[in-house]
Amino acid sequence: MEALHIIGEEHQSLAGILHAVRYMLKEITAGRLEADLKLFQAMVHYLEAYAEKRHHPKEDLLFKYLEKRTDEGSEALARLALQHAAAPQRIAALQDALTAFVANPGNFADFARAFDAYADFYRNHMMLEEEAVLPLVRKYLTDEDWTAVDAEFRAEMAANSGKDGKHEDFAGLFSKLVSAAPAPIGFGSGPFKG
Ligand SMILES: [Fe+2]
Ligand SMILES: [Fe+2]
Repeated sequence: MEALHIIGEEHQSLAGILHAVRYMLKEITAGRLEADLKLFQAMVHYLEAYAEKRHHPKEDLLFKYLEKRTDEGSEALARLALQHAAAPQRIAALQDALTAFVANPGNFADFARAFDAYADFYRNHMMLEEEAVLPLVRKYLTDEDWTAVDAEFRAEMAANSGKDGKHEDFAGLFSKLVSAAPAPIGFGSGPFKG
């Protein structure tokens, strides 16, 4: 059940980033914080390159095993598949709003709105996975399924490991984001330097 553990950990990290951005947007709106554009860019990059491109495909692998065992949850799976497929449009809208804000601080409110919409979507998406699908995965996958899907997850992680210098080190990036984010959500060592 290593695969389930990995999905759970990724949800926690992603929720952490969404929460951090929302916190910063609130503090900027209240005039208590200055925008760290590089940190916003790095966080949106993390959402694009990890949340949307690495996380959902692993879930698609896991959900396939469930479909083989039962029809239960098929409606939720169909919705999730559509949401996974819509990742490019969703992240493009967020990136466009951030680009406009970086070019002109007057676009801050539009970026904050775009981010709120993205974070709302993503939270509901994770809740649907955790409440409607992951319990079924726990219930229906057999020992052989777990052996197979855990191996697929390990292979995916090994093939894209940031340790080889050829792929981005997302664990390292996550630590840097947390370190640069303002306290109390991060360690306040910003501005983000990359
Ligand atoms: Fe997902
Ligand atoms: Fe997910």
